[in-house]
Amino acid sequence: MPHNIILITGAGGFLGGLLAAALHADPKTSDASLILVDVVEPKAPQGANAITIKADLCDKAQVNDIFKTEFGIPDTVYCLHGIMSRGSEDNFDFGIKVNVDSVRSLLECTREYGKDSPIKFIFASSLAVYGGPLPSIVTPTTTTTPESAYGTGKLLSELIINEYSRRGFIDGRILRLPTIVVRAGAPAAATSAFISGIIREPLKGIESICPVGNSIDSPELDLAMWVASPQTTIKNFLLARDVPAEKLFPHTRVICLPGFTTTVREELEALESVAGKEALEKVKFRDDPVNRRIVSSWPARFDIAYALSLGFLVDEGGMEPIVRKFQEDVVAGIA
Ligand SMILES: NC(=O)c1ccc[n+]([C@@H]2O[C@H](COP(=O)([O-])OP(=O)(O)OC[C@H]3O[C@@H](n4cnc5c(N)ncnc54)[C@H](O)[C@@H]3O)[C@@H](O)[C@H]2O)c1
Repeated sequence: MPHNIILITGAGGFLGGLLAAALHADPKTSDASLILVDVVEPKAPQGANAITIKADLCDKAQVNDIFKTEFGIPDTVYCLHGIMSRGSEDNFDFGIKVNVDSVRSLLECTREYGKDSPIKFIFASSLAVYGGPLPSIVTPTTTTTPESAYGTGKLLSELIINEYSRRGFIDGRILRLPTIVVRAGAPAAATSAFISGIIREPLKGIESICPVGNSIDSPELDLAMWVASPQTTIKNFLLARDVPAEKLFPHTRVICLPGFTTTVREELEALESVAGKEALEKVKFRDDPVNRRIVSSWPARFDIAYALSLGFLVDEGGMEPIVRKFQEDVVAGIA
């Protein structure tokens, strides 16, 4: 078997860090050479054969350099760097620069260095590519009409990845992610940040603001959301590398990763059931119409038959096991 050389951008972020650790833990890739890149210094998993590179991918020269390390040309690029939804909405030019222009530079290098053998390019996209009037269940043929700068940026990158794949420049795989709960660490500049915040902070004994609704009885709490756990999502990132290209649709490299539907109310019920009333009381309500509008524009129900047919995994049991797992991580000091 050829030696694996895997490049991860956004490796200093939430999912990038988990992905590096999962690749190192997986027997199929535990001896892989990992090239970990981020604008903040990324951390390598303990014992991994890894290089960490602090680079701003908005600078084309720095993008080129990450393909010229002593590890050689990567066989796979995981493109996870990006500016999240609220950040992109508040600073349009910066969001497009990172979420589109730097991805384009990375794609150009992936094409150039993969001339002899197209490199796999696995892209973290989002359900924010959807918006406007949507069917009750999103299917692989649902039109994408984003209603945010973040969703528009992701969709623009998706289109280029599809075209580069059609031309054989790269071997692209576009993963449209559900919102990932529970996100560890500090809150992200994402409109969806509260979806994790209302679980994470109370489990750590800290107050959290819910920007949807003004009280526990508000009808706004029935806002439905499409979510997945970090653990299942990272397993799916590993699987994305192994899916044979011929099994993918011929006209698109987009795969909507499996998730499940929950509501803000169900999240809070799971929090109370796992950690009690005291934890629930840490959630304070302050309705934010901008935030609520963006999250409401995202679809909450998907047909996942295609993803399942490719072997991707789905969370079982709703929010409670996810809240419980996060509570265990808090107790273990790793959340
Ligand atoms: N977490 C989610 O719920 C979710 C949902 C859908 C899609 N996604 C996508 O998955 C990817 C990873 O998400 P995450 O939650 O780990 O985000 P994150 O914010 O934790 O990580 C993104 C990383 O990108 C880095 N970055 C930003 N600009 C950069 C630049 N110019 N050069 C180099 N690095 C740069 C940041 O420093 C950060 O470490 C993102 O592309 C995101 O859009 C995430």
